[in-house]
Amino acid sequence: MSSTGTDLQIDPDELHTADFVVVANRLPVDKETLPDGSIRWKRSPGGLVTALEPILRSQTGAWVGWSGVPDSHDNPVVDGLQLISVPLSASEINEYYEGFSNATLWPLYHDVLVKPEYHREWWNAYVEVNRRFAEAASAAASDGAMVWIQDYQLQLVPKMLRMLRPDLKIGFFLHIPFPPVELFMQLPWRTEIVEGLLGADLIGFHLPGGAQNFLYLARRLAGQATSKGTVGVRSKFGVVQVGFRHVRVGAFPISIDSGALDAESRSRKIRARAAEIRTELGNPSTILLGVDRLDYTKGIDVRLQALSELLAEGRIDPSDTVMIQLATPSRERVDSYIQMRAGIEQLVGNINGTYGEVAHQVVQYLHRPVDRDELIAFFVAADVMLVTPLRDGMNLVAKEYVACRSDLGGALVLSEFTGAAAELRSAYQANPYDLDGVKDAIMAAVNQDDEEGRRRMRALRRQVLAHDVSRWAKSFLGALGSTQETASSANRGVDIVDG
Ligand code: ADP
Ligand code: F6P
Repeated sequence: MSSTGTDLQIDPDELHTADFVVVANRLPVDKETLPDGSIRWKRSPGGLVTALEPILRSQTGAWVGWSGVPDSHDNPVVDGLQLISVPLSASEINEYYEGFSNATLWPLYHDVLVKPEYHREWWNAYVEVNRRFAEAASAAASDGAMVWIQDYQLQLVPKMLRMLRPDLKIGFFLHIPFPPVELFMQLPWRTEIVEGLLGADLIGFHLPGGAQNFLYLARRLAGQATSKGTVGVRSKFGVVQVGFRHVRVGAFPISIDSGALDAESRSRKIRARAAEIRTELGNPSTILLGVDRLDYTKGIDVRLQALSELLAEGRIDPSDTVMIQLATPSRERVDSYIQMRAGIEQLVGNINGTYGEVAHQVVQYLHRPVDRDELIAFFVAADVMLVTPLRDGMNLVAKEYVACRSDLGGALVLSEFTGAAAELRSAYQANPYDLDGVKDAIMAAVNQDDEEGRRRMRALRRQVLAHDVSRWAKSFLGALGSTQETASSANRGVDIVDG
């Protein structure tokens, strides 16, 4: 293998031993070197790890991914799970991760909220790093193993892995929205991406709309003539026929470990901490809460703008209201993230400068991750949860809030442009581009009467508790496990799977 980056160093004892392999850009833990030189592994940010962590706890297998720092070869075992590092050099982090993944694909797949950048050297790095992930997965997987590839950073891996290991069952799940056809067609490497995905036996999206977009593109792009003649690609009701192979395509809305969160949020310790948070804030009548990675897709600016106008109009009393915004640092060297952070911190400063008092800040902004118990206590304490993305594949935070409200208290303001909006119909939904609509939704949530609030929360909880992450995984892995039978029944067609 030729490699421009750091070579893989896989222990021969670990070769071909895992029956179940997750392949994701990140390992579930990030490597951190402390000032005394010792190593600490801390939880990686984002919804992918939140969702997959409980699944991997109940399976034996391996997780192939990057440790979050340059040139790391460590393959630690964490909680009984074999982690296999794919080392990335500093220039690959720059071109594959910050560049092609997060300055090309991320904005393209999120409604071009910022302009995607198309650079050939970024694409070359993406191809090279995807090849390295495919090789690591191939080395880890036992004969006939199930390999589950995750997310937009690794869309070429299914085809590359199939070429290395035709014996494997290969699944792919996209954790972000799959874009409308007109936007996807901008991508200079659109055919390679579609063909890369079609290496899988099963391709999953959050929503049926994403699956439909992909099916259309598979027909349009992957069936084009090549130097070896025409590749026959036909798609029908969720099955794409690629030569003699059949690839299933479906919608599997992801979720959370809602039962565990529900149980933890009921504990006396969490309840006491939630009460303490309210006291520390000066016992305001209303606590508004936002919890996000600091990302321009999340609409943190939308909710701050809405709050600012509501304060200016006197509809919200600054002396009796606190908004807490927890923001996990994310992709801090990507230009659009640097600019967005400056804009958000300016909005926070403006609100506090105009409406705050020495002893009372209207917006409490924490630019760091908080630990799990503390996060649950914030959910329990919050009267109104603000989830206002301009576009989001699912948004697990919305589901986490609901899972933590066994008291049937609280209210959820939810953007229509999240995947979660399709399921959480009893939230106060709003179009994030319509600021007046967002303000009205916030006011309706703040002023809801108790009975109405309980009715809505009961309905939300019914959905979230019944459709948890284990159901999602079973539904995806069950469909992947049965792909052989699907192949023989492909001519009859398979409906878009509605997880
Ligand atoms: P994304 O995958 O885009 O980051 P999601 O809402 O689907 O968005 O998932 C985010 C996950 O990260 C959730 O599990 C949420 O609880 C967690 N999270 C977000 N912000 C913080 C924070 N400041 N501290 C701790 N956890 C956070
Ligand atoms: O689900 C979206 C996602 O991009 C995941 O793939 C990723 O693990 C998470 O958000 C956090 O992003 P990053 O790995 O770039 O910090």
